[in-house]
Amino acid sequence: MAKPTSRFVCQTCGATHRKWSGKCDDCGAWNSIVEEAVSEALPKSVATGGRRIDFVALSGASSDEQRFVSGIGEFDRVAGGGLVPGSATLVGGDPGIGKSTLLLQVTAALSQHGAAVYVSGEEAVDQVRMRAKRMGLAQAPVQLAAATAVRDIVASLDLPEAPLAAVIDSIQTMFVDTLDSAPGTVAQVRAAAQELIRVAKRRGTALLLVGHVTKEGTIAGPRVLEHMVDTVLYFEGERGHHFRILRAVKNRFGPTDEIGVFEMTDRGLVEVSNPSALFLGDREGNKVSGAAVFAGMEGTRPLLVEIQALVAPTAFGTPRRAVIGWDAARLHMVLAVLEARCGVPLAGRDVYLNVAGGLKVQEPAADLAVAAALLSSLNDCPVPAETVIFGEIGLSGEVRPVSQMESRLKEGAKLGFGAAIMPRRRQRGERGEAEIARREISHLGELVALFERESAQPRRPGPRDAAPAKGAR
Ligand code: TYD
Ligand code: MG
Repeated sequence: MAKPTSRFVCQTCGATHRKWSGKCDDCGAWNSIVEEAVSEALPKSVATGGRRIDFVALSGASSDEQRFVSGIGEFDRVAGGGLVPGSATLVGGDPGIGKSTLLLQVTAALSQHGAAVYVSGEEAVDQVRMRAKRMGLAQAPVQLAAATAVRDIVASLDLPEAPLAAVIDSIQTMFVDTLDSAPGTVAQVRAAAQELIRVAKRRGTALLLVGHVTKEGTIAGPRVLEHMVDTVLYFEGERGHHFRILRAVKNRFGPTDEIGVFEMTDRGLVEVSNPSALFLGDREGNKVSGAAVFAGMEGTRPLLVEIQALVAPTAFGTPRRAVIGWDAARLHMVLAVLEARCGVPLAGRDVYLNVAGGLKVQEPAADLAVAAALLSSLNDCPVPAETVIFGEIGLSGEVRPVSQMESRLKEGAKLGFGAAIMPRRRQRGERGEAEIARREISHLGELVALFERESAQPRRPGPRDAAPAKGAR
């Protein structure tokens, strides 16, 4: 039987199929299967005679951990304290979110300490220059090139005087000429990344690959890249909001729960070192019901965000639950606990939940703030004035302690909040130093009772519920 000369590869998950079909059986993606030629020859680098590897002990005298620190604090922290020589970092994000802008700034900052290369496969040299000029970086000694041929890039990086850092923008435009498939296909992206990572490891260059994300949210050409690199950073933000968040989802050299906050301005990205003030910036005090301030943690840093809820009578048989910026499954859990353990009638109501400013909150510690926002909207009664809230809710309605409570309280106090609704601590007596009134609760019922007491008049269902929780901004 003749050997197949082509195969069909899903561009979303990388699965290979023997024939084309409209839907990938592996990942369920539609219209993602593309024909790729099967190359007969093995990759050339393997065919040549190998050399013996020198095995070493774990406890060897390794060179001290050295990192390339760019000086852009928000970026360095997310990268785990700077870029590691010879490491590969994938920076993913939606098209137009600001990846090129960020990495041009990082390259310019690194070029102050040593050679830094920026290879653009998407923009011409003049375009990058124009952007750099607008951002006030035109004088930075960045080595700029517009290229897409991986063979040429590898030849330029594989030198004794290899650069400190190299940015490839983007990996989807890179082209390996030993493969027949088009740039951007799984095979091309994988091969290009492999070649570039290999030379970066050999020469100790910190490699930064830009990867566009498909509309489903995975980096196109995709999971195959995530395991090949050392660090995966996502650059995200809501369209229409001016700030951007850099988040580590994988990091072999540092924590993955750090975020970096930037603001997109007409002169590029500006670091936001006090994000709480940014996220609470346009808050209208505590006049409206349905808004609660959550004292969260993002990695080592406390972050205050406003959680907004709107509880409205439902017009349909099945109530609508819409969530932006939080886990929908957790919202359903909080609703179920409120209903079943505290007798709060929510079954016949639509619930909308929004984390202000387009931030995505991932901590379970937000449960209590979400419950407070829901109860506040339901009772049409604002959350007690200048109060931060945090705590995890268990299925029986108990409120559980969360990590780093003292840091959360301190951040609240720093931003002028006078009180906190929080879980009861295990060891009583020990008082932290944060100057903030603590209202400790151990069961969700106490929060429900609080709102029932606070709401002066009996609840008036109906249009009042629709009082804007500042949701539609
Ligand atoms: P870009 O870095 O090109 O995005 P990506 O590489 O992720 O596709 O960013 C493009 C957007 O950023 C564009 O919509 C304009 C905006 N922008 C600014 O607002 N200010 C600036 O100084 C720059 C360079 C870009
Ligand atoms: Mg770009």
